[in-house]
Amino acid sequence: MREVAVIGVGLTKFGDRWEAGIKDLAAEAGLAALEDAKIISSEIEALYGGIMSSGRFTDQEHFAALLADQIGLKHISAVRVENACASGGSAFRLGYMAVASGMHDIVVVGGVEKMTDVTVNEATTALGGAGDQEWELSQGITFPGLYALMARRHMHDYGTTQEQLASVAVKNHGNALANKYAQFHRKITIDDVMKSKMIADPLKLLDCSSICDGAAAVVLAPMEIAKKYTDTPIKVAGSAQVGDTLRLASRDSLTGIAATRIAADKALAQAGVERKDIDLAEVHDCFTIAEVMGVEDLGFYNKGEAAKAIAEGETMIDGKLPVNTSGGLKGCGHPVGATGVKQVVEVVEQLRGDAGARQVNGAEIGLTHNVGGSGATVVVHVFRRAD
Ligand SMILES: CC(C)(COP(=O)(O)OP(=O)(O)OC[C@H]1O[C@@H](n2cnc3c(N)ncnc32)[C@H](O)[C@@H]1OP(=O)(O)O)[C@@H](O)C(=O)NCCC(=O)NCCS
Repeated sequence: MREVAVIGVGLTKFGDRWEAGIKDLAAEAGLAALEDAKIISSEIEALYGGIMSSGRFTDQEHFAALLADQIGLKHISAVRVENACASGGSAFRLGYMAVASGMHDIVVVGGVEKMTDVTVNEATTALGGAGDQEWELSQGITFPGLYALMARRHMHDYGTTQEQLASVAVKNHGNALANKYAQFHRKITIDDVMKSKMIADPLKLLDCSSICDGAAAVVLAPMEIAKKYTDTPIKVAGSAQVGDTLRLASRDSLTGIAATRIAADKALAQAGVERKDIDLAEVHDCFTIAEVMGVEDLGFYNKGEAAKAIAEGETMIDGKLPVNTSGGLKGCGHPVGATGVKQVVEVVEQLRGDAGARQVNGAEIGLTHNVGGSGATVVVHVFRRAD
């Protein structure tokens, strides 16, 4: 396999983008990534586009062709990737594999979702399709409901408190203040989270990621030519994707996601990196409990110990292990197909030293963790500076 580098990144502002259609979002992020890589469209051989539910949200299908068209790519191989909230992470892994295998040289990976053209009820139903439609959604359980079950069990087994969960939201909203692409630029307190409206007990509005619009894109190249385009190629050092049962009730445990544990072991082994070497991680915090379980399952904390550590500030930007420096899904918003690619953009900017007020000092190795559904798909990547 060849070594692969990220040579360009692009993002749109996340949020209620009433003024922009799905095509505008795709063009905004895609063209920004091409410009960042200083690449012309005729050099690009393939595109992988992550999107969860463009048909339900916008009536638009055939998304990869649309994305290629919007950024002026003609006669290339364009493939849509759908893996629920992990669509972006899975698209990135396919782009990586295409370059690593030698099949293609320059590849674009994009992720988009335009969720606000439908009502919140319609969006909740569409998102419910990421679980087992027959055994979960049609019985009345939504995604906030599934994660609420996990939160309750975590609280029961480990004494995790609602205030500790709230501290995840407070941290991530705080980090988002320094990210111009984030949806929320609003500092919040534990009290704000505790007093926000109940969504699915014990998860309140401010424990949830939002329904919003946004797009992200990156450009990949083999390492041997990456320096032609950029002085700071970021190496994709490890890549793993692992699945599990679609239905939460069929899992062995409600307090963790086994696929995360296995994917982390595989990606770190490929990268030749130990957990203590990771300088920052973008962790899938679709709900506050998801970040707590995420850092435990990734092996950064023992089971039952992360919530206290987060509440004590260990995962702040200047803490022992900075988590979700971008603001995460909570502070940035969660346009589902875009999220996995946005996580890569954040880690690349950090490893380049371009993250401004969010910069983790001396960051050299970063990790992304993207979850589809309640854990039926997990994608983990490890990145490192390549100089
Ligand atoms: C939590 C949720 C139900 C809130 O939707 P809602 O009740 O319709 O909220 P509203 O649209 O009434 O918004 C009320 C206010 O809260 C804000 N808001 C909405 N969701 C928010 C969130 N998740 N975090 C912070 N603020 C939020 C809105 O901007 C609005 O602010 P304003 O009054 O200043 O305009 C919705 O965001 C949701 O379903 N989130 C989870 C999405 C999901 O499941 N994703 C997949 C994960 S696997």
